[in-house]
Amino acid sequence: EKGGYEHFMLKEIFEQPRSIADSMRGRLKADEAHLQLGGLRNYLDKLASANRIVVVACGTSWHAGLVAEYLFEELARINVEVEYASEFRYRNPVINENDLVIAISQSGETADTLAAIELAKSKGATIFGICNVVGSSIARATHAGAYTHAGPEIGVASTKAFTAQVTVLTLMAIAVAWRRGTLSEELYRQLLIELETIPSKVERVLAKAAPIREIASIFTYSRNFIYLGRGLNFPVALEGALKLKEISYIHAEGYPAAEMKHGPIALIDEDMPVVFLATKDNSYDKIVSNIMEVKARKGRVIAIVTEGDALIPGMVDFVIEIPNTHDVLTPLLSVIPLQLLSYYIAVLRGRNVDQPRNLAKSVTVE
Ligand code: M6R
Repeated sequence: EKGGYEHFMLKEIFEQPRSIADSMRGRLKADEAHLQLGGLRNYLDKLASANRIVVVACGTSWHAGLVAEYLFEELARINVEVEYASEFRYRNPVINENDLVIAISQSGETADTLAAIELAKSKGATIFGICNVVGSSIARATHAGAYTHAGPEIGVASTKAFTAQVTVLTLMAIAVAWRRGTLSEELYRQLLIELETIPSKVERVLAKAAPIREIASIFTYSRNFIYLGRGLNFPVALEGALKLKEISYIHAEGYPAAEMKHGPIALIDEDMPVVFLATKDNSYDKIVSNIMEVKARKGRVIAIVTEGDALIPGMVDFVIEIPNTHDVLTPLLSVIPLQLLSYYIAVLRGRNVDQPRNLAKSVTVE
């Protein structure tokens, strides 16, 4: 059932070209400039006229929510608040019938997320679900939704569910932006065309598994890691750190790169590996300065860069190249090497990657 892979996690990482394509299938036809999500049909106007969107989720799904914040803000010019479901449910959140809540959950069974939905519902908000498991409790508790078609995810560490969530949220943000009129026709068409190329670009990142394993073998026994990114790569930094923590038990922190100066930079020395998300997007120049700051303090740097980058490889210790894409689609590619890096480090340390200690696949108690 592992299809020849040593672990479910590795199988699921390698399934991503297909799970991303499956999450777009029937919804997107770039050559016809067609984009439609069935579950959104009766809610598109409501979303398009929303003053704000509140996202509730936990863990990796919360990271997908942070990506959505950026996408809806950038493309649709809608204000988004991303909440840990566990915090939201125990506050006294200001929420009413004008609010639109997006609940994100792979399993559809996360207790805190379900409770957050019930709370928002009781205040009259409209709830839209992004779930992977068909017929799950969250899928049933929401007013409408769009499934991620990632297929069953067995490994406790979420991989293909995350990229499927980001795919569906990207389709939603583009559809809502188009309806709101905040997107030019040129950009709309360009994004749809670029989205269709993502599965084959993910394939190209997966082809780098062997060199990523090499890097993993150099850092197998590191005791700490910092992951830094800006903009859309900030949630990816958080996700990379979470993956490493949960399956290798190495302490790792994700930070917005510019926050480093406000504290974490004190941690940097030759024993502190720093993973930089340094793709060619609108934060590139800033990230280059952040890399210089880390190198000046002898930090060892692994950088995820865009193919053809001629500058960063000369500055850092290791680079992993990913194909170029439109800025807003970057997380779908930049997260892949981080999944592989954590996987190989955990395997080299002899960890039980599919069932890490103390963790369950779905957290059905609070
Ligand atoms: O099933 P859900 O998406 O609601 O689960 C949320 C988190 O429990 C989950 O993403 C968790 O953080 C994963 N183990 C991360 O890899």
